[in-house]
Amino acid sequence: MLDVREESRPVALESAPEEARWRWKDLLDTDVLDPADIQLVMDTAEAMSEVRSRPMSKVATLRGTTVVTLFYEQSTRTRASFEVAAKALGADVVNLTASGSSVEKGESLIDTVRTLEAIGADLVVMRHGKSGAPYLAARHSKAGIINGGDGTHAHPTQALLDLFTMRRHLGDLAGRKVLIVGDILHSRVARSNIWTLVSAGAEVTLCGPATLLPTSLAGRSERGSVKVTTNLDQAIAGADVVMALRIQKERAERGLIPSLREYIRGYQVNARRLALAAPGALVMHPGPMNEGIEISPEIAHGVGSVIEEQVSNGVAVRMAILYLMATARTA
Ligand code: CP
Repeated sequence: MLDVREESRPVALESAPEEARWRWKDLLDTDVLDPADIQLVMDTAEAMSEVRSRPMSKVATLRGTTVVTLFYEQSTRTRASFEVAAKALGADVVNLTASGSSVEKGESLIDTVRTLEAIGADLVVMRHGKSGAPYLAARHSKAGIINGGDGTHAHPTQALLDLFTMRRHLGDLAGRKVLIVGDILHSRVARSNIWTLVSAGAEVTLCGPATLLPTSLAGRSERGSVKVTTNLDQAIAGADVVMALRIQKERAERGLIPSLREYIRGYQVNARRLALAAPGALVMHPGPMNEGIEISPEIAHGVGSVIEEQVSNGVAVRMAILYLMATARTA
């Protein structure tokens, strides 16, 4: 894993004033966002959601801005929603994947982002299999880098859209019980969610098999807390939000879980278990889902499920991020 802490400190934009304005050149993770930053994203996303609901749902706010999506790994939701978001704001969009680009000829990440900058990219949304890769890109590019998921490290826009979805249903999250269940160890979604949820004052519980559960994530801040447990039946009791994570079949092949059947027995979010949660608990999943493994189909598509809403909210939240970052660059 690349060192994402030392030489890669996020760069604050010099010209941004102290009041509610976006301060960051890049969005690499949620860990640098303070409650005011997060509130700014939430408020802007509400405004973007209103724009999306209009019959003419496109505006020209980012006309003249070029957004590049640079995906070294597969994606449906993140890539498509950034493209829709950028177009809805009137930006020019260029979509690149590693296959079919000069990456296949061995071009380095640094050369790639410098090339994109030279052709006029203002913002680059990037997904990469290596943890820390967007931090490297950010150090070598004047374009704003948005992390669309890096290895097992972070997925900041997913965490922000998850928070947006929870707040729309539950309002203030202070004291709310949020359970994240599954492969916590390899989950960039869980890692980024912890920062935003604790910042919002939630009581977060991480649950999964011991081999997929880093106990080092447990802790308490003055705003919220994180607990870890291997017992799902206990952890789900009274939960206001139950977020299931995708379990990759290769975890069984690598011996991190005994078998998928055992995993289902211990950790599937299903009707019996959801009955233990708080009445009206939200069911969430970042996708893509393995229905019948980490989540049963009737729960994935049942009354409390907001999984499709997460996807639609992703457009409004990504519009907000693109808008805030693009306008801060020209302020
Ligand atoms: N949640 C998420 O990142 O989905 P995609 O891999 O489809 O982008």
